[in-house]
Amino acid sequence: MSQESMQASIGRAQRYIDEHAGPVARTPMRQRYHFMGPCGWINDPNGLIYYKGQYHYFYQFNPFSSFWGKMHWGHAVSDDLVHFRSLPIALAPSEAYDDHEQGGCFSGSAIEKDGKLYLIYTGTANRGDGLEQTQNVAVSEDGVHFRKYEGNPVLCAPEGVKPDCFRDPKVWEHDGSYYMVCGVQKGDRGQALLYRSPDLLHWEFFNVLLESRGELGYMWECPDFFELGGKWVFICSPMGMGDRKVVYFVGDFDYRTGVFCPRSQGEVDWGLDFYAPQTFLDANGRRIMVGWANGWQWMTQFKDWGPTYHDGWCGSLTLPREVTLSDDGLLSCRPVGELSLLARDEGSMPRLRLAGGEDAKIEAGDGVAFRLSFDIDLRASDCSSFDLLLRQGGGRQVVCTFDLEHAQLRLCRDGSDGWSRGASRSTLDLCGRDKLDVTVYSDQSSIEVFADNGTNVHSMNVFAPSSQNGVSVRSHGGPLALEDVSWCGMADAPIQ
Ligand code: FRU
Repeated sequence: MSQESMQASIGRAQRYIDEHAGPVARTPMRQRYHFMGPCGWINDPNGLIYYKGQYHYFYQFNPFSSFWGKMHWGHAVSDDLVHFRSLPIALAPSEAYDDHEQGGCFSGSAIEKDGKLYLIYTGTANRGDGLEQTQNVAVSEDGVHFRKYEGNPVLCAPEGVKPDCFRDPKVWEHDGSYYMVCGVQKGDRGQALLYRSPDLLHWEFFNVLLESRGELGYMWECPDFFELGGKWVFICSPMGMGDRKVVYFVGDFDYRTGVFCPRSQGEVDWGLDFYAPQTFLDANGRRIMVGWANGWQWMTQFKDWGPTYHDGWCGSLTLPREVTLSDDGLLSCRPVGELSLLARDEGSMPRLRLAGGEDAKIEAGDGVAFRLSFDIDLRASDCSSFDLLLRQGGGRQVVCTFDLEHAQLRLCRDGSDGWSRGASRSTLDLCGRDKLDVTVYSDQSSIEVFADNGTNVHSMNVFAPSSQNGVSVRSHGGPLALEDVSWCGMADAPIQ
């Protein structure tokens, strides 16, 4: 019975998508090579996995509206992380534990077991006592059609945890056992709870993996936990930490005790539009991260989700980024090499020198969808700052400032499109350095800046027309020296 009601919901959603995806695809702000849903609203990436030779992306999806509501899991596959093909919706609200207008099938993860694909997700529903969140399982034999487990829910909120703040399970396997980390609110503090299971269906509490003591927010969304280069990395999206929206901790973990000892922490991405990232391992052991390129109303710098709701859609995902630890133990996130499949009309110059007050144009692709990279020669640059001006036109622009005097990187979209506003800001580590690398990816409605080997990242949306396609560099207060300047256009990669 329950399988039939989910299939009926999926059928309704698919018919709506078939009718609306065509017109939505022709609207002007659609990304050209970033991942989007076919229509409606999307948020977090879910269930990212390399399964039977293909990359699977699932995502929070409300196909019926450009605003959040009643969450489904959208689904797409890719052979190369760049070109995607849409598949039928994987999960739709249908059960007492996941069917509600203000709920549905919330975020979660995927894992392969005995050749089958398991999705572990949060059901959010209201059975009369307010919204309640539980962890649930769905299984597929073919990686396309999923059946919810009859024994759901497999986990309910423990004593003391806010019933509507127990969500976003991230699952992995080790030595034949399964582990899950879940985000919760306990009192006014965020926590990550660790569970253990022999079979993905029966779970026991193992330990509090990490918790806020008031300094790290009141609720932790979308926790992730994985081994990387001999260390362990915990990532979460904490609510109530101001500009710090996605934080990471690096430390050591002991499977015998379930104890995680974080030694250092940092920011995954400082941009105004980056949230709820999830990582997964591919066939070659690369750790890959994808985030939602937006944020929520409660965030300090939140403006809104942009004007695309007029066009029947909202939300895209960031570029897939390979995650590594830098030599000094920082988390480094760099766009995957496969993106070069889209590179067109490549150009380069060994160096660019500008006197103070001087500027230079750069012809990178069509000035909208492009990649631009360079190294700042810090010895030969004596400017106080320089601006990389993006999406220029009609008196508008996005300003990416490298403030060498105050060691800051700022990405400002005030005055960029007549709609967006706000600026993100991070500290650049320039101490004793000879050079600093920068790579920028621009698409129709987003900009991602990767500096310092991917340890200093800013992702931000901008909704400028294609006529805003100028790119230039301007030096302030002294000479600027850039080395190895290279650029290319990025070809379209529409989701099929
Ligand atoms: C994060 C989040 C998750 C939740 C999902 C609901 O953006 O709030 O905590 O599962 O979105 O769509």
